[in-house]
Amino acid sequence: MSTAAVQPASSTRTQVAIVGGGPAGLMLSHLLHLANIDSVVVDNRAAETIETTHRAGILERDSVRLLVDSGVDRVLRDGHRHEGIDLRFGGVSHRIDFEGLVGASCWLYPQTDVFIDLHARRTADGGDLRYGIGETEVVDVEHSPRIRYADADGVHHEIVADLVIGSDGSRSICRDLVPHPTRYFREYPFAWFGILTESAPSAPELIYTRSERGFALVSQRTESVQRLYFQCEPTEDPSAWSDDRIWAELQARLAGEDGFRLNEGPVIERTVLPFRSFVQTPMRHGRLLLAGDAAHTVPPTGAKGLNLALADVRVLAETIERAVNKKDDAALDTYTERALARVWKAQHFSYWMTSMLHRLEGASDFDEQRQLGELASIVGSQAGSTYLAEGYTGWPQR
Ligand code: PHB
Repeated sequence: MSTAAVQPASSTRTQVAIVGGGPAGLMLSHLLHLANIDSVVVDNRAAETIETTHRAGILERDSVRLLVDSGVDRVLRDGHRHEGIDLRFGGVSHRIDFEGLVGASCWLYPQTDVFIDLHARRTADGGDLRYGIGETEVVDVEHSPRIRYADADGVHHEIVADLVIGSDGSRSICRDLVPHPTRYFREYPFAWFGILTESAPSAPELIYTRSERGFALVSQRTESVQRLYFQCEPTEDPSAWSDDRIWAELQARLAGEDGFRLNEGPVIERTVLPFRSFVQTPMRHGRLLLAGDAAHTVPPTGAKGLNLALADVRVLAETIERAVNKKDDAALDTYTERALARVWKAQHFSYWMTSMLHRLEGASDFDEQRQLGELASIVGSQAGSTYLAEGYTGWPQR
C-alpha cells in the first residue's frame, strides 16, 4: 500500500533528509552536524546488517584525512598503512612503491569499520538515525521534499526537509526520481569470488595478480583473518566450492618461481561479487542530490567505490553548507559537475585496472601478449608506475 494515503503518526522537520545510512550517508550527516546543519538519516536495513556486510577494505589518503580531520580517527590506531602494492604476473611480483613515487599511502581499513565508527560518532552526538524502516517513499523533490515510511511496528511517519540526499546505494530508489537521466552502463563477463579465511596474512601488502587461470587478489583483515578474491563466472555458485577447491585455485593463480604460498585456513565466508560500471547524470534534480553508489558504481578492482562516495560527500557537504547557511541555491547547480569530474577518472581507473589484470574468455594470443606488455610497461617505467600510484592513492581533492 502507498503510504501517501496514510496520516503519519509523526512529522519531523529537518534541514537535510538522508536516504541511506551507510558510510556515505553517515559521513554526510556527521559533516553537516559539524557545520551546525541538522539532518535525519533513514535506512531500510538494520544497522547490524550493514555492520556485517563485508565490502572493500582500502581507503585513499584523502578518505583517511576526511575521517581524521572530522574527529573520527580510529583508523590511525586500528588501520594498516600500506605504502605500496604488488603487481604479480608471469609468476613474478613487482612492487609499486606509492610513497617513493607520489609521496602518498593508502590504508587497509574495512568499510564495515568505517560504518561502525561513523555510526558510533553520530549516535554519541545525538544524531537522528532511523534504521530498519520499510515502505520508504520520497515525494515532491522539486519543491518541498518529504520522506514517508513505516517503522518496524508498521506505524507511519513523515520527514519534511529542505533538501533530500539519495545515498541509498546501488539499488537506489532516489535515483529513479531524476526525470530523463542519462545512464552509462557497462557489464563485464566475469565476477569475483571473495572469501574470508581464518589464517594469518600471506603478505604485508596487497597482491594484484594476473595469471593464466585469471585474476586473484590477496588482501588482509586482521592478524588472523585474510580477505582473498579470485576471478570467476558471474553465475558461479559459491556453495559448489569446497575449501580445498578454493585453496587449490588460489594457490595455482599465485604460484611462481619465487615459491610463493598462501597461508591456508578455514573459509568462514564466501560471496560472488558482480562487476559493473555505471554512472547516472545529473546527480541533482530540484532539491534532491545523489551521492555514492546511487549515482555510480565501479568494479572492485582498485577499491574506488567507498572512496568515491566519500569524495562526493565532501563536495556535497560544502555545497549544502553554502546553499543552507548562505541561502545560495546556485551552489546546488555546481554539484553534478564537481562530483562527476572525479567519478569519470575513477571509472577509467577501475576499468583500466580490471582490463589489465583479468582473463577474457576467447582472448587471442595477441590479446594475452599485449596484456603482458601493458603490465611490463607499467612496472618497468617510472611514468607508468606513477600513474598507477597516483590513481590508487587517490587524486588530490579540489
Ligand atoms: C579488500 O580488501 O576487500 C579489497 C582491497 C582492494 C580491492 C578490492 C577489495 O581492490
